[in-house]
Amino acid sequence: MGSVERRKTLWIWYIAVLCSFHLSAAQISYSIFEEVDKGAFVGNIAKDLNINVQALESRGLRIVSAQSKRYFDVNMKTGVLYVSDRIDREELCPNVAKCALNIEAILNSPMHLQRIEVNILDINDNAPSFLEKSLDLSIPESSIPGERYPLPIANDADLGPNSVKSYKLSQNEHFSLDVQSEGEQGISAELVLQKALDREKQNVIQLTLTAVDGGKPLRSGTMLISVNVIDANDNMPTFSKPLYKVRIPENAPFGTTVIKLDAIDLDEGINGEIVYSLIGRGNRNPSEVFLIDSTTGEITVNGSFDYEENTAYEVRAQATDKGSPPRSTHCKVLVEVIDVNDNAPEISVMSLMSPVKEDSSIGATVASVTITDKDGGKNGLARLDITNSVPFKLKSSYKNYYSLLVNDALDRESISQYNITITATDEGTPSLSSTSVITIQVSDVNDNPPHFPEPVINVYVKENSQTGVVISTVSAFDPDVGDNAKISYSIIDTSHRNNLVTTFVSINSDNGDIHSLQSFNFEEMKMFEFKVQATDSGVPPLSSNATVNVFILDENDNSPRILPPYSEHGSVNTENIPYSADAGYFVAKIRAIDADSGYNALLSYHISEPKGNSLFRIGTSSGEIRTKRRMSDNDLKTHPLVVLVRDSGEPLLSASVSIDVVVVETMDDIKIPFRHVPLEQNFSHLNLYLLIAIVSVSVIFVLSLISLIAVKCHRTDGSFSRYSAPVITTHPDGSWSYTKSSQQYDVCFSSDTLKSDVMVFPAPFPPADAELISNNGWDTLNRTQTPPDKEKVRNPAIKMDLTYNCILHS
Ligand SMILES: *[C@@H]1O[C@H](CO)[C@@H](O)[C@H](O)[C@H]1NC(C)=O
Ligand SMILES: *[C@@H]1O[C@H](CO)[C@@H](O)[C@H](O)[C@H]1NC(C)=O
Ligand SMILES: *[C@@H]1O[C@H](CO)[C@@H](O)[C@H](O)[C@H]1NC(C)=O
Repeated sequence: MGSVERRKTLWIWYIAVLCSFHLSAAQISYSIFEEVDKGAFVGNIAKDLNINVQALESRGLRIVSAQSKRYFDVNMKTGVLYVSDRIDREELCPNVAKCALNIEAILNSPMHLQRIEVNILDINDNAPSFLEKSLDLSIPESSIPGERYPLPIANDADLGPNSVKSYKLSQNEHFSLDVQSEGEQGISAELVLQKALDREKQNVIQLTLTAVDGGKPLRSGTMLISVNVIDANDNMPTFSKPLYKVRIPENAPFGTTVIKLDAIDLDEGINGEIVYSLIGRGNRNPSEVFLIDSTTGEITVNGSFDYEENTAYEVRAQATDKGSPPRSTHCKVLVEVIDVNDNAPEISVMSLMSPVKEDSSIGATVASVTITDKDGGKNGLARLDITNSVPFKLKSSYKNYYSLLVNDALDRESISQYNITITATDEGTPSLSSTSVITIQVSDVNDNPPHFPEPVINVYVKENSQTGVVISTVSAFDPDVGDNAKISYSIIDTSHRNNLVTTFVSINSDNGDIHSLQSFNFEEMKMFEFKVQATDSGVPPLSSNATVNVFILDENDNSPRILPPYSEHGSVNTENIPYSADAGYFVAKIRAIDADSGYNALLSYHISEPKGNSLFRIGTSSGEIRTKRRMSDNDLKTHPLVVLVRDSGEPLLSASVSIDVVVVETMDDIKIPFRHVPLEQNFSHLNLYLLIAIVSVSVIFVLSLISLIAVKCHRTDGSFSRYSAPVITTHPDGSWSYTKSSQQYDVCFSSDTLKSDVMVFPAPFPPADAELISNNGWDTLNRTQTPPDKEKVRNPAIKMDLTYNCILHS
């Protein structure tokens, strides 16, 4: 109710009281409850004024009121005052304890004004009410129990007992109500915190405050109280687990998610905003490998794992809220690294016995090898094998340890070095392998004796050669090395026909050079033999032998020598021939010998004086002097002849003899003993002996050469042609030749010496000027050219032909 309206009402009421005081002596008072029904009885005016009811109408009774509203009326017939309109005490006199309506009953004739006071009695027709229907309270959750929060007061328009008498709070566990009465004025209430709040449990608490009056029936009014619990950073973040376990392969790439941490903070706002981080522990900083997203808590790989280095990581993570002060929690993340077959097995040779002796027994250990694989499980199990073909094998001593053993005989001379390829393969998928090469040197053992390429070495030495020259060099080969192949040469088996060979030759023990110690005389010694031995310097030393045949080659160092009865030039020999001698009469036979052999001993006879002699001829090879024709009277009685005997050597050597042929008249003058006239075309005894000698010598020679041929056939090594054995060929007519190193040699016999010597020398082409002379049935090649010496024959420019000749002197 507005204060202006209230003042106006008061003023009207005051005027009415004044009038009634003036106009009436007494005042009638009635009491009625407010809000009674219309027509409700208030009082009987006629009776209280002592007026006859019949007079009421005539006197014109009427009720006047200061109020604009007409609450009362009067029944003219009965004089009863009744309620004619709804009366609300709270409307009429708000906040006033005593509420009365003043009305006047006016009667005419006589004029009478009666003041009537109608007391309006209160009934409990108003409920307590709050100004606002709801109240929002914000209380921090950190508030401690006992704190008080004043509440608004409820109003009740009713009075007295009908006004607010108490407050009630809806059932709850946190708050209680403290109600205080403040005298007549009313009562107030305070909210008292009984139990600490927890926003995280209940962030809004709805309460109902009820104000109750004391009327009958009770009336009440309510107000909703919303308690908003204000967050405090009273909760630390919490991880869903205190320990997270995760497995990750060691080859996980950069950026792979390891795990996503999930911490929650029950607080709200920044108190509940979580920041994740990793905590370094000791000197191992997990951020070298892991990275955490501070807002999502996702841990990713930011490095590389190596199972072989770390099989697991223990990472500590922290979740911190943004409250003030911030609160944080830790958790452990155990990251187990799963092995991936990323390491090839490694081979290490622990001990190596190289070089290995070539006579090492089978099963001897030469090396020990281990394999290591950093991977775990199957990935770390490896096997070792030899992958090439070598006479070695591997034996597993125990897990991952192997011995390399000799598995077959070794021979340094065949293979001196082995590269053994060993491969280790693990059992991972895919499997990895590595290879290593062990080089084993095979060391020498003196298991090979020196070896001469030819068991027989033929050396040809010219007679009369210089002393001290190297006549040959022997050389043996030893396949071993070092001292085992260091050869020294010596001469053994030194006696040759009671002569010490060491007086003939010496050998340089280092290089095998054979020196002559004397000049040889072919006429004294045609050949000698000895053995050379090659010995290596191994322990024990090994040796082998070879036979050296030294053939002395003839030089033309002997002049022909005239045999008796004729003597050398200087003395005069005389032969008589009868005047009657026919042509072809045998005069004399000059015989000469030459100590040399071969062409050097091939003698030819010539009449050198007188020049242009027409009476005598001499057999070039027979030495027989015969007459060419019968004597004539013109002829001289005495013919002095000089017969020259010369050999075919180089240079030519000759001897001469003088014979005076005296022509006598009778045969008596001729000395009988010398008249052995040899028959032409007949074999002389000498020839017969010579033939026997040739045959026997041939047989011996053939036999001796066959052995060499056998060796030659046995040895197929053609590189030592210098030592190749001669080949002998026999011909249908009984003569023979032999071939050595594609050269052909003539074999000739020095018959005149009556020694069974055979001389062999190369056969060149027959010289162009050679004349073939038939003499005594033997074909004789009369050489005007000296035979080529050994060196000339070796010259390949001289073509050797199969021409052979057997030259025979008789
Ligand atoms: C992630 O790794 C890179 C390269 O190794 C490095 O530079 C970086 O600092 C790492 N990140 C963290 C947060 O450690
Ligand atoms: C072994 O290997 C070495 C070095 O690679 C090589 O010089 C040698 O010839 C090899 N030996 C064999 C027998 O293969
Ligand atoms: C070498 O000759 C010597 C002496 O004649 C002999 O004792 C030895 O057995 C021979 N050695 C060989 C290997 O022929």
